Amino acid sequence: GQDASTPETLESRTLEGIARYIKDGKAKKIVIMTGAGISTSAGIPDFRSPETGLYANLARFDLPHAESVFEISYFRNNPNPFYMLAQELDPSKFRPTITHSFIKLVHDKGLLLKLFTQNIDCLESRAGVPSDSIIEAHGSFATASCIECKSRYLPEKMLEVVRKGSVPQCEDDTCRGLVKPNIVFYGEPMPESFSQNKTLPADADLAIVMGTSLTVYPFASLPGFCGEGVPRLLINNEQVGSLGSRPDDVLLLEDCDSGVRKLAKALGWLEELETEWAKT
Ligand code: APR
Repeated sequence: GQDASTPETLESRTLEGIARYIKDGKAKKIVIMTGAGISTSAGIPDFRSPETGLYANLARFDLPHAESVFEISYFRNNPNPFYMLAQELDPSKFRPTITHSFIKLVHDKGLLLKLFTQNIDCLESRAGVPSDSIIEAHGSFATASCIECKSRYLPEKMLEVVRKGSVPQCEDDTCRGLVKPNIVFYGEPMPESFSQNKTLPADADLAIVMGTSLTVYPFASLPGFCGEGVPRLLINNEQVGSLGSRPDDVLLLEDCDSGVRKLAKALGWLEELETEWAKT
């Protein structure tokens, strides 16, 4: 037979194992970690996929380097590339994917201990995951504020100003700072909710990592905080981070939507999952 350590052997044998572990009631406190890969099938590009990723498609903005569009120092001097992008990424234009609905279903079954997401598209909330179960490590489009005095502004108002071709500025005449959504730019601090939770809850008994390259810290260090003996399931197009380094890691190296359908089928949840997704 094949060498037991090759991912193919791991994924076939142990996806069933993960489903059995959940069905046997051994996973009651599941932590889920997600990135842009769970929203690509909704039409929102991820960041680093070659060709389709956002960072490969910013040439029109003539940036010093791709990430500049999300750097606070660059934004202060030239906010236009971000504002142009913000219109394209306006989350209200997109529908959650079946992967978002899978997370909602895990919550409905009382098994979701916490969702850590890097995504700013609010699709997890739109799929029905309650906000107190979500840690938005990189903020979100849900609120906007002045980058100088931190006064709050409505994101829709901000986008309206942008659509008219103007630059949304703080209404306080002594400030006049730029207004942007509360997504975390490079050079900005993480939200309180994450800076206090830069580790996984100690009582987590299963970890599921989906749709992330695990390249941005401190988020990328989260899977490493899984206790010994806590299985870690990766559902991702490619192997990432330290996933696969532990004997009980499970690698499902494929599209998130088909991976969650496979897991739901093995759990006997597929019908419920499709119904859940149809509601979004
Ligand atoms: N199914 C499974 N995997 C996918 C899919 C899909 N449909 N689409 C993309 N992927 C995988 C890619 O192969 C890659 O491993 O998801 C991962 C996406 O990685 P990134 O594009 O780097 O996105 P992410 O990990 O969320 O980026 C982290 O970078 O710029 C910052 O703040 C930004 O939150 C973002 C952070």
